[in-house]
Amino acid sequence: MLAGAMELAAVGITSPNGELLLNVDVDAGGSPYYTLDYKGKPLVKQSRLGLRADETEFRDGFVIAGTDTVTVDRSWQPVWGEYSDVRDHFRELAVRLKAENPNRELTVRFRLFDDGLGFRYELPVQDGPNYLTLKDELTEFNYAGDHKLYCIPGDYDTDEYLWSETTFTDLPEALSNYGRHTEAQRVDGVTIQTPMLLKTADGVYVNMHEAALDGYPAMLLDVDPSAYSMKSHLVPDRLGVSAYLQMPFNTPWRTLIVSDDARDILASQLVLNLNEPCAIEDTSWIKPMKFIGVWWEMFTGNEKTWAYSDDGLAKPGVTDYTKLKPNGRHPANTENVKKYIDFAAKHGIDGVLVEGWNEGWEDWASYRKNRQFLFDKPYPDFDLPALRDYAKEKGVKLIMHHETAANAADYELQLDRAFRFMKDNNYDAVKTGYVGAIIPRSEHHTSQWMVDHARHVIERAADYQIMIDSHEAPRPTGLCRTYPNWLAQESARGGEFESFGGNPPSHTCMLPFTRLKGGPMDYTPGLFETRLSYYGEGKDSQAGTTLARQLALYLTMPSPMQMACDLPENYERFPDAFQFIKDVPVDWQDSRYLEAEPNRYITVARQDKNSDDWYVGAITDDNARTALIDLSFLPKGAKYEATIYEDAPDAHWKDNPQAYRIRTVQVKPGQKLKQPLAPGGGAAIRITKKN
Ligand code: NOJ
Ligand code: CA
Repeated sequence: MLAGAMELAAVGITSPNGELLLNVDVDAGGSPYYTLDYKGKPLVKQSRLGLRADETEFRDGFVIAGTDTVTVDRSWQPVWGEYSDVRDHFRELAVRLKAENPNRELTVRFRLFDDGLGFRYELPVQDGPNYLTLKDELTEFNYAGDHKLYCIPGDYDTDEYLWSETTFTDLPEALSNYGRHTEAQRVDGVTIQTPMLLKTADGVYVNMHEAALDGYPAMLLDVDPSAYSMKSHLVPDRLGVSAYLQMPFNTPWRTLIVSDDARDILASQLVLNLNEPCAIEDTSWIKPMKFIGVWWEMFTGNEKTWAYSDDGLAKPGVTDYTKLKPNGRHPANTENVKKYIDFAAKHGIDGVLVEGWNEGWEDWASYRKNRQFLFDKPYPDFDLPALRDYAKEKGVKLIMHHETAANAADYELQLDRAFRFMKDNNYDAVKTGYVGAIIPRSEHHTSQWMVDHARHVIERAADYQIMIDSHEAPRPTGLCRTYPNWLAQESARGGEFESFGGNPPSHTCMLPFTRLKGGPMDYTPGLFETRLSYYGEGKDSQAGTTLARQLALYLTMPSPMQMACDLPENYERFPDAFQFIKDVPVDWQDSRYLEAEPNRYITVARQDKNSDDWYVGAITDDNARTALIDLSFLPKGAKYEATIYEDAPDAHWKDNPQAYRIRTVQVKPGQKLKQPLAPGGGAAIRITKKN
């Protein structure tokens, strides 16, 4: 018993609606733990809390020295997103733990919402070591049964995997079916990533992730398949250190979104609610956008390259790119980019991304030099001043591309010059990329150092009023609330994989339940030509989608920086379908999830932020399905017209993906539309008020 401290008994709170019950206590050895019940049944059984560092352990010997509880009910207005107003309603319990010999203090702060739980560790300044070399987080999640798991393998460097639908018991076998990504560090053992989803036999869904990942490594989960339990696994550096911490320090929140209605998982704003409010005072320059890009050309089997030359600097002694022999297969050239600008201007698309515009692509795999890419050196055939002026004249924004080849250290050195260069040339947004093994080699894509790097880049970008779409960055955890200039991230297997063998239709029925809980994804929808081959290798690939489904993805994969990924000539072949991409907004007043089951189907309705128009998107897996679209969300007292973009009756993702129909019907509030979807198909609907 700790001298002078009063030992408190177990403490508990319920969620505001009473459905979730959290209890916290210490066991006989003084190890803190929690339990979570949902609707009167145990969901998370006794599960340990704690941290372990070289200097000291926050593991046992604790007593509860005090608790604080508070109920909070407030709302906030995001700069962009699925809702114009977000309610943040929770009961909070802060449990202050103390131990002596040696002295240690640890607070665990819990927030219990109607839709789930968040908790984090808070390390106050100690009467003991105040710098920690953190080796392990001891957090457990012990479940009450052999639940269904929807997950991807644990990996320190990549999340570009397809989803497994498995169980605790079958997880080891499911993981053994995955290959290894080149250069990526797959974790040996039964380890998975967050965000992941779990479903109990009673039909309770739990999304597990983290919120506000800052100054700390990302969390994976080590699974014990026979005990139905999970334990946090922090991404280490190459020395096995998870984090170097200085007190006071708060960890990210560990999050469980809980509901017996799958639609609630999709609608939940819990992860955003656990992030800090917007840190940017003037956000008027942050503008949601649609864009096209000199991009897909490099994926579609016509041997186009990001590089200007096939010789490149790999040729010893050459330092001047004008001395290199152009390969004639370089689409980031002035004339071609002008065509994209013309197309964007003609169709009201806000931006044009250009990849392969700058020096360095010839050296991709050589790592011969420390500095590979230059972010202020256009290739000789990319006339930047001319394109800058041309884009401006046409009212189109050029979007910058910074592929760093994972040389994050060098990117930090070039960052100020690169951002200044962007502003000088009228660029407001950049797509960043980290392909390859991280430089410095001691780090991983999701280690503490890279989490810090991402934070550094987003803050510096805000200083320059620059918006970011990051690829191969740490998985998002809702930091886009604090830094709304972080419009989108990839951080999952995106649409580009349609040209590397394909994404099955179920993939996009999974991402909104998992990856999207951390923030929007640059999935790159809008693929109209679905027959593909990669790099002209003769390897044909059939995308796992119908054309109509690609339109629905603009609703089911919402992002404020949304691409229309296909080539202008493919849009010109289907101008009536392209009309939907032109019309669909990228920022929303309200969203209603109408139907949902992970890995199977999603139907969602959203209201445009800036008009009374509603849009509906419905997708299915590779089974045909009839979506039931209940139009009760439409305000009464008005007449409406719905333009429906749908699969033709004989459409099929595999052999008839481009068979679609467009029809216009009158609809009424409360009406229930039965909407057929083809195997791998979807439907997209625009609903406007009729006077
Ligand atoms: C991988 C990104 O995901 C892709 O979008 C990009 O085109 C390439 N890296 C090159 O930077
Ligand atoms: Ca990628």
